[in-house]
Amino acid sequence: MKILSIVGARPNFMKIAPFIKAINSYNSGDSQKIYHLLVHTGQHYDQNMSASFFEDLGIPRPDINLGIGSGSHAQQVGNTMIELEKVMQKERPDWVIVVGDVNATLAASVTAKKEQIKCAHIEAGLRSGDLKMPEEINRLVTDRLSDLLFTPDPRSSENLKKEGIPEEKIKFVGNIMIDTLETHRENALKLSVEQIIKSNVFPDSPHYFIPSTSFALLTMHRPSNVDDRDILSQIIGFLCEDVALKMKLIWPIHPRTEGRLKEFNLWENLVDNENIILLKPIGYLEMLRLNMDADIMLTDSGGLQEECTVLGTPCITMRWNTERPITLQENGGASVLVGNDVNQAREEFHRMLKEGRKPVRPELWDGKTAERILKELINFSN
Ligand code: UD1
Repeated sequence: MKILSIVGARPNFMKIAPFIKAINSYNSGDSQKIYHLLVHTGQHYDQNMSASFFEDLGIPRPDINLGIGSGSHAQQVGNTMIELEKVMQKERPDWVIVVGDVNATLAASVTAKKEQIKCAHIEAGLRSGDLKMPEEINRLVTDRLSDLLFTPDPRSSENLKKEGIPEEKIKFVGNIMIDTLETHRENALKLSVEQIIKSNVFPDSPHYFIPSTSFALLTMHRPSNVDDRDILSQIIGFLCEDVALKMKLIWPIHPRTEGRLKEFNLWENLVDNENIILLKPIGYLEMLRLNMDADIMLTDSGGLQEECTVLGTPCITMRWNTERPITLQENGGASVLVGNDVNQAREEFHRMLKEGRKPVRPELWDGKTAERILKELINFSN
């Protein structure tokens, strides 16, 4: 069997790593070997947004890098399709594997089906119901086209059934991100929080961390939070006037957000605040380490909502909806939705700080998802 796996952006890397590990372990046995090729579209290209994840997670160097880089959505998807078509025509794999919901996921599933190659989607069935999110469009199209849909939770399987996807294509296998988390938990614990800060702090953010103080951790990159000047200003007000008055705030900044903060003249306020520690985007292990110690997480990332659920970090999700309802407190998880309403964020921040950590483990979030996926692919092909 020949498999071509496609990754493009930061949140893809932790989803493909366990799958490659499962293939390597299968290939070390006596059965017929799987021939695997890894393609990186190059949507994320910085050392911090890409290469460091390959190093941290032990992912082999991509066999092919398409070097697509930044651009509008149409440019990213179009250019990726043009390049992937050539690769797929040359390699003719039995399966194309796509993960998550980024532009590379969409481009690869469409190209595979046009080339009449079977496509499998890892992390299928997530739905926010919000078509303003580019990721939701990517999910809908990818799931409609995929031949095998691997879901992280039963609710995602239900979403697919409601959309008319035949049941035999849907496989509830658990959350592959948690495979990665469990593999790297111990290594992350060996890192020192102080050292992470020293190695990643922005040169113009002069503040440092006093070990043993409590801290909040923030990540934010969604266009709905960072692309509008008024919304971003209000969020910065909340961060400076509430969060940073109560505790240190550690903020690894996504390049999109850094750009907007500078464009809207909000950067200086942050640099001047001695309780706010601005970091460049950090590696997987570093983020995991900070998440283990954070008193509270503030984020608009879907993946972090899931990691907070397993680690038990109280999580304020700065979105109006989520494609991952299993992570919400009302469903037993660690997170609450506050959108970009800073009053609600303030209220939840003070309430959740009092609650402390409550780790939970949803069904099949057990670190063995990649093995189940590989088994299904092999069964399907036999
Ligand atoms: C993408 C994904 C999103 C994911 C996020 C995580 C899509 C539609 N969106 O959004 O689902 O949650 O990644 O990071 O695919 N940039 C750099 N260096 C890099 C990569 C990007 O400076 O290595 C800059 C780009 O030039 C651009 C900005 O960051 O200005 C945004 O990058 P882009 O790939 O457009 O999407 P993200 O917002 O990162």
